[in-house]
Amino acid sequence: MKTKTASAFTVLREEDVNYVKSLVANGGPEEKDYDAFFQVLEQLDEKGVNEIRELLGPIMNEQTMVGFAYVKPFGYAGDYQIIDYIYQQKVNPDPRYSKWDKWYHEQHAAKAVRNRKEFFKDVLEKLDAASDTQKNVLVLGSGPATDVYEFLTKHPDSKLHFDLLDLDQRAIDYAKKKNAKFLDRLNFIRINVLRYKTYKFYDLIWSAGLFDYFKEKHFIYLVRKYLDYVKEGGEMIIGNFSDQNPSTKGMHAMLEWHLNQRSSRQLVSYAVEAGADPVNVSVDKEPLEVNLFLRVKKPSNPFRNAETFISWLDINNN
Ligand SMILES: C[S@@+](CC[C@H](N)C(=O)[O-])C[C@H]1O[C@@H](n2cnc3c(N)ncnc32)[C@H](O)[C@@H]1O
Repeated sequence: MKTKTASAFTVLREEDVNYVKSLVANGGPEEKDYDAFFQVLEQLDEKGVNEIRELLGPIMNEQTMVGFAYVKPFGYAGDYQIIDYIYQQKVNPDPRYSKWDKWYHEQHAAKAVRNRKEFFKDVLEKLDAASDTQKNVLVLGSGPATDVYEFLTKHPDSKLHFDLLDLDQRAIDYAKKKNAKFLDRLNFIRINVLRYKTYKFYDLIWSAGLFDYFKEKHFIYLVRKYLDYVKEGGEMIIGNFSDQNPSTKGMHAMLEWHLNQRSSRQLVSYAVEAGADPVNVSVDKEPLEVNLFLRVKKPSNPFRNAETFISWLDINNN
């Protein structure tokens, strides 16, 4: 096939076309190229994005992280496999692709995904250390469950039990295989989180990499719904990418990986709209501040026993 000359690209500047072509010929950007390549991506409009994809054609396939994210072999963005590749920092050893994969894993978005796994493990450690009795955790959109696997590998005697919900049976099969040693305390359920119903109460409800795909209406609906399943004294934590994510252009435009990125203020307002008292709502962040975590506590009711006793007295005295 005849290669298109730089001047045949109508949107990208000739020097940018030549630069990107040189990156492809060189098997991907080296560290010294990261800033310059970022600048090229930052200026892109819709037509420019199409031209960049054309230039990157040789690597926009399942052999690279960037291509896998774009092609979406599972039919949707953010499947369990790409997330686990990000955790593993998978690099294709083929020299045509490896520099692209290394570059991908250095992007803020990929680092923030790895950071959120560490954040969750930290939350689990604190929950586990706080009591000697069994604690129940519900995970919404559990994907590869690598976070749970790493936590249980480090704490095989943990008292935590997990219910893990995912819509994709392939994600559940993969996560079960990975967590084969721990299946006695894991309960996988294939269901849409919008439909799950339970009589159980959880000490912790966790979700990351899921609510970013929901519109405001569904986000608020789910917070209201799942707050009912949080035990008194328990907590719900929902991860959501920040609207300040520097990888936005690359993710949205180049990879067609669309997220509803949000500000801390928006996340708090959703929780309040869902019925949470603002004093129980806060927002945490991982070190890069790309992944935000909405935290909603359900206070324990110190007067519960007193109220029960008073109503018992009322009933028996009348
Ligand atoms: C981006 S992955 C995140 C996985 C995991 N939470 C993590 O951070 O490693 C999102 C997962 O949510 C699942 N998912 C998407 N929509 C869902 C829904 N409506 N109900 C249940 N699971 C869903 C997907 O199948 C996928 O495994």
